Amino acid sequence: MSHAPFAPDEAAGIVAGLKDLEGPLLPILHAIQARFGHVPEAAIRLVAAELNLSRAEVHGTMSFYHDFRAEPAGRRVVKVCRAEACQARGGAAVEAALAASLGLPVGETSPDGRVSLEAVYCLGLCAIGPNALVDGRPVARLDPAKAARLAAEALS
Ligand code: FES
Repeated sequence: MSHAPFAPDEAAGIVAGLKDLEGPLLPILHAIQARFGHVPEAAIRLVAAELNLSRAEVHGTMSFYHDFRAEPAGRRVVKVCRAEACQARGGAAVEAALAASLGLPVGETSPDGRVSLEAVYCLGLCAIGPNALVDGRPVARLDPAKAARLAAEALS
């Protein structure tokens, strides 16, 4: 999905349009991320000022909801499930294999912008885990070898 480059005026318009909602913070963060693909620090400052919140509060909300990102995503996005059922089925080894093969810890994007590795917390596919999402497509029954192949594909 392509996103617009961050534009402060446009972000201010998004905030102005939603700030009178009850509980406006999440809708505003979602709208900014939908438009720009991430919520940069400048947007966090703007949102905090407009909603009379501290920047720490806005950061706290962003990190609580794992879908928000402060940096643009890579062109490919691999999300590995860290929730309980996948962990019980070997999710940690799958995550380690993805991280090693991509050369990235979870939460980071490669410097060339090619790929991001992220965590996700349950895809509702617990019975066929460990699971990941590759560009939004679920991949089930992963093991370290399959995870390494998946990473190689994502890098190709
Ligand atoms: S715990 Fe991974 S899909 Fe539910």
